Amino acid sequence: MATGQTVTVYGAYGHTGRFVVAHLKERGFVPVAAGRDAARLKALADEHPGLDVRPASVDDPVSLDRAMDGVAAVVNCAGPFATTAAPVIEAALRAGIPYVDVAAEIEANADTFTHFADRAHGTGTVIVPAMAFYGGLGDLLATAAMGDWTEADEAHIAYGLNSWEPTEGTRAAGKVSAERRGGRRVRFTKGQLAYHDDELPTLQWSFPHPLGPRAVIGEFTMADVVTVPSHLSIPEVRTYMTTEAAGGVVSPDTPTPTAVDEHGRSAQTFLVEVVVRSGDTERRAVARGQDIYAVTAPLAVEAVDRILTGRTRTVGVASAGEIFDAPDFLDALSPHVTVELRA
Ligand SMILES: NC(=O)c1ccc[n+]([C@@H]2O[C@H](COP(=O)([O-])OP(=O)(O)OC[C@H]3O[C@@H](n4cnc5c(N)ncnc54)[C@H](OP(=O)(O)O)[C@@H]3O)[C@@H](O)[C@H]2O)c1
Repeated sequence: MATGQTVTVYGAYGHTGRFVVAHLKERGFVPVAAGRDAARLKALADEHPGLDVRPASVDDPVSLDRAMDGVAAVVNCAGPFATTAAPVIEAALRAGIPYVDVAAEIEANADTFTHFADRAHGTGTVIVPAMAFYGGLGDLLATAAMGDWTEADEAHIAYGLNSWEPTEGTRAAGKVSAERRGGRRVRFTKGQLAYHDDELPTLQWSFPHPLGPRAVIGEFTMADVVTVPSHLSIPEVRTYMTTEAAGGVVSPDTPTPTAVDEHGRSAQTFLVEVVVRSGDTERRAVARGQDIYAVTAPLAVEAVDRILTGRTRTVGVASAGEIFDAPDFLDALSPHVTVELRA
């Protein structure tokens, strides 16, 4: 249990930000709610009496400095991160505090490594991008599955979601990323991101119980193609998505997530299977849980807790698998995520 350290959540009243605010409180942190809409911050404070709210806009560095004043860390939940990541990181650097975000935008995540690695390293600041379901969990699983391997030929990350009802933020992130790519698609091959116009293949993936064999879209490229190769020597990283979920997230008719339990989680379930292959040998890791947005909160908050208690392996910009002890981190996610490692 944390001992009352304050943590700013930027984008606190968004769908994911709300899960993070609630989870910080559960873990004994004191959240500070920041975001650009004062009225929505006030409405959030009505649900959390005593909540410190600090309106702040990414166009106004002084307001961001106020949002970071006196806090121990910041979690950025406001996307598109193409717009918010750089100004919020700049404010974290000015305040000298660690920064964690939940960005699922491949180019924005790559920009964070490119633009901030030197300064963050130079000042000893910790910046963890994509500390979320996409990007973070897959990286932790791939790192744990690697075990004593330092390199592998391929990593495959298969997302077995029964459905995907996207938030407005997910749709906006997808739109911004598509615009940045000029409508092209992206994959990670031969050790780098490569843009292409190929049709995405539909394949069969044999998920473990309870999903079993499912149709998946191949090269449904997610943020793991930035996080995994940022620290593991794996030239081919591919991600896959069940066709039901891929169809749901792109359809304009799919509703936003509906809460079905007292924690506000939706009925969405996930099974993520990671396979790393070196020559003829494969190693696997599997994670199961409920609601990809809700589970992002324990991922981000566990990261904050480890950073603030010195349970880290490096400084600068680093992905979850590089900076944390991956098997230990995954163990700590119970009961939110159940993990199995298989050689
Ligand atoms: N990697 C992952 O697995 C993962 C998991 C969860 C979420 N995410 C990402 O997190 C982001 C938020 O998702 P969500 O589900 O919480 O969506 P959401 O409910 O639509 O919330 C979006 C939040 O971002 C804020 N925002 C948007 N543009 C902003 C700007 N220019 N300046 C300041 N704030 C801005 C919104 O504030 P306003 O209402 O004032 O616009 C709101 O607080 C998305 O990019 C999503 O892809 C990633």
